[in-house]
Amino acid sequence: MPQTLDQQKMQTRNLIGGKWIDADSGDEFAVLDPATDEHIASVPRCGTAETRRAIDAAAEAFKPWSARPAVERYRMLRSLADAMMRDQDRLARLMTSEQGKPLAEAKGEVAYAASFIEWAAEEAKRVYGETVPASFADKRILVLRQPIGVTACITPWNFPLAMITRKLGPALAAGNTMVVKPAEDTPLSAIALGELAVEAGVPAGVVNIVTGEAKAIGEELLDNPKVRKLSFTGSTPVGKLLLQKSAKNLTKLSLELGGHAPFLVFDDADVDAAVKGAIASKYRNMGQTCVCANRFYVQDGIYDAFAGKLSEQVKTMKIGRGLDDGVQVGPLINDDAVEKVQRHVDDAVQHGAKVLTGGALAKVDGLTNRFYEPTVIDGFTPEMLINHEETFGPVAPLRRFKSEEQAIEWANDSIYGLAAYFYTRDASRLMRVAEQLEYGIVGANDGAPSTVQAPFGGVKESGFGREGGKYVMDEYTEIKYVSWQL
Ligand code: SIN
Repeated sequence: MPQTLDQQKMQTRNLIGGKWIDADSGDEFAVLDPATDEHIASVPRCGTAETRRAIDAAAEAFKPWSARPAVERYRMLRSLADAMMRDQDRLARLMTSEQGKPLAEAKGEVAYAASFIEWAAEEAKRVYGETVPASFADKRILVLRQPIGVTACITPWNFPLAMITRKLGPALAAGNTMVVKPAEDTPLSAIALGELAVEAGVPAGVVNIVTGEAKAIGEELLDNPKVRKLSFTGSTPVGKLLLQKSAKNLTKLSLELGGHAPFLVFDDADVDAAVKGAIASKYRNMGQTCVCANRFYVQDGIYDAFAGKLSEQVKTMKIGRGLDDGVQVGPLINDDAVEKVQRHVDDAVQHGAKVLTGGALAKVDGLTNRFYEPTVIDGFTPEMLINHEETFGPVAPLRRFKSEEQAIEWANDSIYGLAAYFYTRDASRLMRVAEQLEYGIVGANDGAPSTVQAPFGGVKESGFGREGGKYVMDEYTEIKYVSWQL
């Protein structure tokens, strides 16, 4: 067993009703390091029956948990956030081992993940109701905010901790209980979080973690009427499927789905700032983020300077195993991801685009074939795959534009609407463009807008619901109106 897990002696089983359990069948699946194919651990392959028990445990825990004063939930969640930061290095190493991202990014993600718990803990104390003036002297109108009940989340492998805590924090803070289904590629970070929740005193059944068959677990979560809310981060096709299945019990959904972010650079932009923002947005997590820039539209007058500087800097990025010092580009998550990236690059080249840097697998001694060179492509056109599909890899395709109208039209020409970015030094243009972009998140001279204080989520086929900021409590509470006849 590799050092990371052996030394940590961490839990690898599932958490249901406060107990650590194996799958009923005893089946397990392997968690592999994408950089080395090393077997890190095996975790239970659970399905319908275990999920049902997790839901039952969450249902039983709901009443006492929601009845606690908010300040008690605050204290426990605060302790959880503190424990995450205390164990930041350990959690980051674990995350890099199962996901591949550079250690510095993994540390950043642990802090990002803890910030969602901390923020939600604070918000627990501020779930305010309202009184509304009534039309009759002998009536009073009260509006209460109450927890929903049993909630669930299905989370992706690209942010193994933060995408869970973004949902778990507010769910628990508002008084709900939760069943967590982490991605098959990265279950260990979720299980480690479960251990810390137990340590922080979160009662049995309030958090449950089930690993295994996505289809069986997901179906039970939406088939079971006890689950009142499901939050999902993942692909648009799976989000649509969940939406159909949610019709059975009218389960509330939050869907944070695919993105295909445009990145606009206007002639009047600070080119160095734009290059810095482009690198932050595009190459974070090897381009495997829903919000990362996928299509770069650069105005004629600044195009050559931007393309030149971006390629120059991208060329120097250090590729290697995420655990090694100074590495900026780790492996992609699996072979399918590598195949997709290569297919997008090949298709672009076949249609006449030119590779300015990268464009091929990076060979790293002793490691797997999942490392892809950070790539910049000159001259993508509308018919190319890269113009329509999320690449989910370290490829920046550039296209020239002439006018602001043209850039906005191209930027909005997508079924997706998660994030968009643009660089300009003209204040009027800044507001004008921000207002016209049909996206839920806009980075204006900012390549890294994600933060706990702000609402995160998309429009169009990027889904609905907002996570983060004060808005997130709306996703995890119900409004009840009480009409009081005196
Ligand atoms: C995502 O890729 O879905 C999340 C990225 C972020 O929170 O910045």
